[in-house]
Amino acid sequence: MHLLSLLSGRKKLVLIFLILGAIQSNALKLNLTDSNGTCLYAEWEMNFTITYEVTNQTNRTITIAVPDKVTHNGSSCGNDQNGAKIMIQFGSTLLWGLNFTKESSHYSIHNITLSYNTSDSTTFPGAVDKGVHTVTLPEKFEVPLDVIFKCNSVLPFNQNPVVQRYWGIHLQAFVQNGTVSKNEQVCKEDQTVTTMAPVIHTTVPSTTTTLTPTSVPIPPPTVGNYTITNGNTTCLLATMGLQLNITEEKVPFIFNINPATTNFTGSCHPQSAQLRLNNSQIKYLDFIFAVKNEKRFYLKEVNVNMYLANGSAFNISNNNLSFWDAPLGSSYMCNKEQVISVSRTFQINTFNLKVQPFNVTKGEYSTAEECAADSDLNFLIPVAVGVALGFLIIAVFISYMIGRQKSRTGYQSV
Ligand SMILES: *[C@@H]1O[C@H](CO)[C@@H](O)[C@H](O)[C@H]1NC(C)=O
Ligand SMILES: *[C@@H]1O[C@H](CO)[C@@H](O)[C@H](O)[C@H]1NC(C)=O
Ligand SMILES: *[C@@H]1O[C@H](CO)[C@@H](O)[C@H](O)[C@H]1NC(C)=O
Ligand SMILES: *[C@@H]1O[C@H](CO)[C@@H](O)[C@H](O)[C@H]1NC(C)=O
Ligand SMILES: *[C@@H]1O[C@H](CO)[C@@H](O)[C@H](O)[C@H]1NC(C)=O
Ligand SMILES: *[C@@H]1O[C@H](CO)[C@@H](O)[C@H](O)[C@H]1NC(C)=O
Ligand SMILES: *[C@@H]1O[C@H](CO)[C@@H](O)[C@H](O)[C@H]1NC(C)=O
Ligand SMILES: *[C@@H]1O[C@H](CO)[C@@H](O)[C@H](O)[C@H]1NC(C)=O
Ligand SMILES: *[C@@H]1O[C@H](CO)[C@@H](O)[C@H](O)[C@H]1NC(C)=O
Repeated sequence: MHLLSLLSGRKKLVLIFLILGAIQSNALKLNLTDSNGTCLYAEWEMNFTITYEVTNQTNRTITIAVPDKVTHNGSSCGNDQNGAKIMIQFGSTLLWGLNFTKESSHYSIHNITLSYNTSDSTTFPGAVDKGVHTVTLPEKFEVPLDVIFKCNSVLPFNQNPVVQRYWGIHLQAFVQNGTVSKNEQVCKEDQTVTTMAPVIHTTVPSTTTTLTPTSVPIPPPTVGNYTITNGNTTCLLATMGLQLNITEEKVPFIFNINPATTNFTGSCHPQSAQLRLNNSQIKYLDFIFAVKNEKRFYLKEVNVNMYLANGSAFNISNNNLSFWDAPLGSSYMCNKEQVISVSRTFQINTFNLKVQPFNVTKGEYSTAEECAADSDLNFLIPVAVGVALGFLIIAVFISYMIGRQKSRTGYQSV
C-alpha cells in the first residue's frame, strides 16, 4: 500500500533563469511512502531540448519544460529484490522515467528514459517523422545508501537529438526507517562551481573521478588494486594509480580514476590476459596483455570507450603497444610516473604501478622487474651517498692538515 503525494509548484530560481534564459520550469516533488513512512524521496527540476525534422532536411529545436500537471503512475519504492522506479507522464504524450537498483553499499540510477510522440502537433508543429521516439541515457550513476543526494548545478546530458537537463536535485531512494537521511552528499558540480570547471556529466558524488582542466594542479590518482581470478585462483594482479589524459581539444582533460567507484572484470588465458575497468564515465578501459616468444609478457592493447565533458563518446583502440615488458613468472613494477601513449589524443599516466598478468602463484606478486626510471633512481642513491662520503673524508683530511699547519706556525712564533 503506497501513499503517494506529488506536488508541483513554481520555483523562482534567479540563477537558473540566468543560465537557461527564459525557460521556466516547475520543481517536481515526489514523496513515496509505505507503512514505515517515506521510502523514496525526490525533488528535482528538468527540461528537454529536442531537435526534430520539419521539412526539406531543416530541423526545428524546441525546449520542453515540465508543466504544472504531471502524473507519476508506475512509480514505486522497490526493495532489496525489486528496483525502485520513478515514472512521470506529462503533456499529452511525454513519458519520463528512471530505474534504481539497490546494491550493498549504494544504489545505481540507470535507464533514464524520455519518450515523446512527434505526432502531437501542438508540441512538435510540422514534424515530418511522426511517431514515438525514445532516448535512454547510457550513463549509470551510483549514489551511496542512507544519504540524501543534492545537486543544484545544471547537469546536461547530450544525446542527439535530445539534450536533457536536471538541476535542483534532492534525492534518496531506498529510504530506511521511514525518514529521509540527515546526511547529505553534494555533487561534484556544486563543489567546483566557483572555479568554472567544465560541468562533468555525472551525478556520482564527491567520490567519483575528477575532471579538471590542466591549468589547475592535478593531484596524483589514488592507487587501486585489481585482481582477476580464474575459478578459485588469482591469475592477474595489478596495482596502479591511473590518470587519463585526453587531448581532443586544445585544453587536455585529465581524469583520475577513483578505484572506490570503479568496477573491474577480466579474464586469463595461456597467451593473453585482460583487465577491464568501468565506472559511470568510462564504459570500458581495457588492458590486454600478451606473451611473446614464450618468454616475456607485455601490454599489447588498450581500448577505451568513455564520455567526455560535453557528453559525447570518445573511443580509441591500439593493439600494437609494447609497454610493461617483463619475463614470464615475474611481475613488472614502476613506481615513478610512466606515460602509456595510446594514441595522438589519448595517454594514460600510471603511478606506483605493479602488474603480473601471467603465472601468478598463491595470489601474490613474484619478483619484480623494475622500469628503467626506477632503477636509475636506485642506482643514483648509492652513488650520491658515496660521493658525499668522499667529500666528507676529503674535507676532514684538509681541515686536519690546516690544523696541523696552524699549530706548527703557532709554535714557531712563540
Ligand atoms: C513525506 O510524506 C510523509 C507522509 O505524508 C511526511 O510525514 C513526510 O514529512 C514527508 N517528507 C518530506 C521530506 O516532505
Ligand atoms: C518496516 O520496517 C521494518 C523494520 O525495519 C521492516 O522489517 C519492514 O520490512 C518495513 N516495512 C516495509 C514495508 O518496508
Ligand atoms: C526499468 O523500468 C522499466 C519500467 O518499469 C522497465 O520496463 C525496465 O525493464 C526497467 N529496466 C531495468 C534495467 O530494470
Ligand atoms: C502519438 O500521438 C498520436 C496523435 O496524438 C496518436 O494518435 C498516437 O496514438 C500516439 N502514439 C502513441 C504510441 O501513443
Ligand atoms: C534503522 O533502525 C534500526 C533499528 O531501530 C537501526 O539499527 C538502524 O541504524 C536505522 N537505520 C538508519 C539508516 O537510520
Ligand atoms: C574452489 O575451492 C573449493 C574449496 O577449496 C573447491 O571445493 C572447489 O572445487 C574449487 N573450485 C574450483 C573451480 O576450483
Ligand atoms: C597530456 O597530454 C598532452 C599531449 O600529449 C601533454 O602535453 C600534457 O603534458 C599531458 N598532461 C599530463 C598531465 O599528462
Ligand atoms: C565534444 O567534444 C569533442 C572533443 O572536443 C568533440 O569532438 C565533439 O564534437 C563534442 N561533441 C559535442 C556534442 O559537442
Ligand atoms: C606496430 O608498431 C611497430 C613499432 O612500433 C611498427 O613498426 C609497426 O608498423 C606497427 N604496426 C601497425 C600495424 O601499426
